[in-house]
Amino acid sequence: MATSNEIRAAFTDYFVRQGHTHVPSSPLVPRNDPTLLFVNAGMVQFKNVFTGQERRPYVRATTAQKCVRAGGKHNDLDNVGYTARHHTFFEMLGNFSFGDYFKEGAIPYAWELITRDYGLPADRLLVTVYSEDDEAAAIWKRVAGLPDSRIIRIPTSDNFWRMGDTGPCGPCSEIFYDHGPSVAGGPPGSADADGDRFIEIWNLVFMQYEEGPPGTRIALPRPSIDTGMGLERIAAILQGKHDNYDTDTFRALILASAEATGQDPDGPHRISHRVVADHLRSSAFLIADGVLPGNEGRAYVLRRIMRRAMRHAHMMGAVEPLMYRLVPTLVRQMGAAYPELGRAEALIVETLKLEETRFKAMLDRGLGLLTEETARLGDGQALPGAVAFRLYDTYGFPLDLTQDALREQGRGVDLAGFETAMAEQRARARAAWAGSGEAATDRVWYDLRERVGASEFLGYTTETAEAEITALVAAGVPVTEADAGTEVAVLLNQTPFYGESGGQVGDTGRITGADGLVIAVTDTQRRLADLYVHLGRVEAGTARVGASVLAEVDHARRTAIRAHHSATHLLHEALRQRLGTHVAQKGSLNAPERLRFDVSHHAPIGRDDLAWVEGEVNARIRENAEVVTRLMTPEAAVEQGAMALFGEKYGDEVRVVSMGAGEGNRPAWSIELCGGTHVRRTGDIGLFKIVAESGVSAGVRRIEAVCANSALAYVTEEERRLAEVAAALRANPAEVADRVAVLLDDRRRLERQVAELQKKLATGGSASEIEEVAGVKLAARNLGEVPARDLKGLADAIQKQLGSGVVALVSTAEGKASIVIGVSPDLTARFNAVDLVRAASAAVGGKGGGGRPDMAQAGG
Ligand code: ALA
Repeated sequence: MATSNEIRAAFTDYFVRQGHTHVPSSPLVPRNDPTLLFVNAGMVQFKNVFTGQERRPYVRATTAQKCVRAGGKHNDLDNVGYTARHHTFFEMLGNFSFGDYFKEGAIPYAWELITRDYGLPADRLLVTVYSEDDEAAAIWKRVAGLPDSRIIRIPTSDNFWRMGDTGPCGPCSEIFYDHGPSVAGGPPGSADADGDRFIEIWNLVFMQYEEGPPGTRIALPRPSIDTGMGLERIAAILQGKHDNYDTDTFRALILASAEATGQDPDGPHRISHRVVADHLRSSAFLIADGVLPGNEGRAYVLRRIMRRAMRHAHMMGAVEPLMYRLVPTLVRQMGAAYPELGRAEALIVETLKLEETRFKAMLDRGLGLLTEETARLGDGQALPGAVAFRLYDTYGFPLDLTQDALREQGRGVDLAGFETAMAEQRARARAAWAGSGEAATDRVWYDLRERVGASEFLGYTTETAEAEITALVAAGVPVTEADAGTEVAVLLNQTPFYGESGGQVGDTGRITGADGLVIAVTDTQRRLADLYVHLGRVEAGTARVGASVLAEVDHARRTAIRAHHSATHLLHEALRQRLGTHVAQKGSLNAPERLRFDVSHHAPIGRDDLAWVEGEVNARIRENAEVVTRLMTPEAAVEQGAMALFGEKYGDEVRVVSMGAGEGNRPAWSIELCGGTHVRRTGDIGLFKIVAESGVSAGVRRIEAVCANSALAYVTEEERRLAEVAAALRANPAEVADRVAVLLDDRRRLERQVAELQKKLATGGSASEIEEVAGVKLAARNLGEVPARDLKGLADAIQKQLGSGVVALVSTAEGKASIVIGVSPDLTARFNAVDLVRAASAAVGGKGGGGRPDMAQAGG
């Protein structure tokens, strides 16, 4: 018996031999489609290649693509467990031609693979073609030799495949397997085609068109091929089973569930085992692709899947959480084909365990309420909407869980009543909010939040995504259009742009769309917690609500922000290790060019401490450890040693970011609650350099630092300055400090010498330099370059030598005349120094002058 792994490999190997490139499955969260909840077909990752918007280095490809159909347009959730072929998660095997071969290639390949490599008997096979497609019918006849009776023409949309309302499309041809007369059902196109006898195994789509807005359809650049074969279906046939759940992969999971619960795999809990097996696959793969359970969008779909399975685990009497215990079996089955499963195993286990542990208590109570309420209802009477709403609102029961629980009683939910209860609650919330006195500008966001819902943030895993414009706000009011030149705030249904929070600045980038639309995004802010508001300007074209756009974050800038944010975590931990655990975050900024981190600490952080911290952070960077993000309850996070901000309000679940290897019972070196975006590995920070330490307020110190390119630029600039100084000194940089010390010494010595010499020069004159004028001794000197500020001191010194007399000193330093005149006390009655200096000043063209009768000065 071929295993599912062998069947998958046989498919891709076959097409590789036919010149196809084996391309890995894309993640389940589509990056290139704004409206698609999850990837639901192999062609999704190639959508833009078909339309010619994107080029790849190959024109033939083959994939085994992970798909989820739960929520949104293709929603199989309700049926899973009860039928043989419904899954929330499945694998689609496909081959693709991008303008290379067309029908004449695709049909022979398909026929050869299923009849030769897979060995299916030709007489068990039949095909359908679109009724107008004579060409495909003729190729089937020629290649497969099928009689006309087994080439069935279908005139309906069943044989015209569309990705969605828009996108690539074309007629298709499906291959069916006949499970034989023991199973009820008729061939495709017949009245009882819905039976289980004839099962579609492979859909060949002849991609020829691109569907635009309603009524517009254009030809693709070149006819192409997109095919999809459900691995679970072909595995069932090749393993001699009729039911997908009897194939090897599912059986292994069902047996694991049976063992963990002690319930017969094929007994009364058969359906529950199947639900658990299916939902485990979709949950695990979604978590591995970055989706974590939550209350909005994709996160809520995941939560619904998980909780639906958890009710079935509960029904089987599982006292302890069940799902996480089955993960190792799943990784054994599928981990080789999808290595991401193994890489995320710890996260998957933790997430499942956390969700199930927390939901269990509410599940018990909610089911109690449900039993009570249904006891009052008549046979088949629907559950009142208000009760379903209470279960939803108070006990965390997704609507589909309640519906599933009522299914075995043949009962439904009064959906209109449920909606009414939901609307009433919204009205109450609105009334409560309106009373809270928030600013009028916030009203706009509140209204939009209600109307368009939360923006889904994709930026943890991608920096570009297609999205839909859900609202535009210009000059504070919602608008439906904004022309070039308008400053706008843009809301998207999903976005890779990080909205400023937790110290991390908002992303910038571009939003582009049809007809040359370009919006330059200069900032992204968050409003009401989960509305991401892109602020910017329409540069070209017209922005319209409802338009599909491409949102692209400025990659280089975001990369630099990541580095600074991750370095802040390392800095925080290093400071605590060095200074003590009283060090707590008081504020932070994570920008592209720098980081700022404020911490509680009583004294300046000394040079040695800073050097130690810087060394430690750089050591962790060189360790190049993986940066791991998990979702936990705040309590569990704190228990693990995560640094939480005191007084901060955290939700039921928090993201916990860990870096580096922990010591003792600490699971990692740095553990923090954080909603920001981080590097993949600490090595991506590159280099960490502290540039300043200062005080902000009493007991709060601030550290500023730079990382990555900014750190390099900083070091380079410092080096350049040093080189400039060294060149001026004609020394090498290593000698600069010694040379400057020597120079300063020299300078001090020379200054002393100069002062002494000047003193000598001024005072050391012989008696002949002293004149007698009218019986009064006069010492008059022009001291030339002696600084003016020294004149008074010198005049004092000369006066002492002179005894009774007058001293007149002139300096012509710096191109100015300065005059000081001293008069000995016995003479001040006759000569006033101020009068004398004024006269002297006037003589050299100056004016004024002042001082005391015994000492005065003037300029000129
Ligand atoms: N894209 C086609 C499908 O999903 C093959 O059926």
